[in-house]
Amino acid sequence: MNAFNFYAGPAILPKQVLKQASEACKSFDEFGLSILEISHRGKAIVSVMEETESLIRKLLGLSDDFAVLFLTGGASSQFFMSAMNLLKNKAAFVDTGTWSAKSIKEAKHFGEVEVVASSKDKNYNYIPKEINISPDTDYLHLTSNNTIYGTQMHSWPNVDVPIVCDMSSDIMSRPLPLEKFGMIYAGAQKNFGPAGTTLVIIRKDLLGKVNRDIPTMLDYNTHIAKQSSFNTPPVFPIFVSLLVCRWLTEQGGLVKMNEMNKDKANLLYETLDKSNGFYGTTAKEDRSLMNVAFKLKDETKTDAFIAFAEKNGCIGLKGHRSAGGCRASIYNAMPHAGVVKLTELITEFDN
Ligand SMILES: Cc1ncc(COP(=O)(O)O)c(C=O)c1O
Repeated sequence: MNAFNFYAGPAILPKQVLKQASEACKSFDEFGLSILEISHRGKAIVSVMEETESLIRKLLGLSDDFAVLFLTGGASSQFFMSAMNLLKNKAAFVDTGTWSAKSIKEAKHFGEVEVVASSKDKNYNYIPKEINISPDTDYLHLTSNNTIYGTQMHSWPNVDVPIVCDMSSDIMSRPLPLEKFGMIYAGAQKNFGPAGTTLVIIRKDLLGKVNRDIPTMLDYNTHIAKQSSFNTPPVFPIFVSLLVCRWLTEQGGLVKMNEMNKDKANLLYETLDKSNGFYGTTAKEDRSLMNVAFKLKDETKTDAFIAFAEKNGCIGLKGHRSAGGCRASIYNAMPHAGVVKLTELITEFDN
């Protein structure tokens, strides 16, 4: 069956990327050795690391003020590592879901944390808009896309401090106003590559300002000085991310990607809005273009719908256990045809 993959993460990758990645596992360098068995200090892998960084810089339009790192430990490690490296006095956080709440918990190990806005009152089904920051704040932490609840920030708060943003589930989905950001991080496994590496983009001038002792491996400056190869980097996930960057570039970059993502999401939300038995669970203006959260009005039919979709080639539609219902993750690599197929199944099940 040619199934469409709607899992939230690890998630869909472009078909051509999977093919190229599997070929590299068999033979990659000039001697025919696999990418999985060669030194990260050899020229084949050094060139992978360099090209990946260079394409990320081009796709996002990053200046040399920013460092680009490939780390391990998932986005979850960035919850504490960002605070350890950046929090001097106080950090402000917007709580938009489970992942924000976890980042808040970890930052508290390193200093004062102020939750300046939260959507917890409505089970995180919207993005709070009123954000006021006190002048002694070092940075504002945001989660741009809430994978579990299906909300996304479609504009950025106007603040005078750098924004530190968890973009794990919408990195590379749209162009960014980089002047607003001090740091961006993302676990690769949703919209950027396979599990195993975390992309960290950080403004170099923000580093080296805290007084605490930072263990070598947890200091961003360590990894900047060694181009992410202070220790053995996760070579294969970085290589697959490179293939994704090449694919993104061929598609026309992030402006084009954003247009395609809007088209796919609009089609799906329109179908849900027109249906009798389904509804989107988030505030309309904050609907995510990446994770479409929806429910059936008769919740007893949820499992039957998921089974029907699966039988017909749409896989991975079960909502996160803390949100229930259904969730269609339609990341960059989801073809338009996959969303069309899902809308047909929704309409058929509805009638
Ligand atoms: C928005 C967001 N942040 C952080 C995480 C945690 O990422 P990791 O598993 O890479 O630590 C996830 C995982 O789903 C996520 O969706």
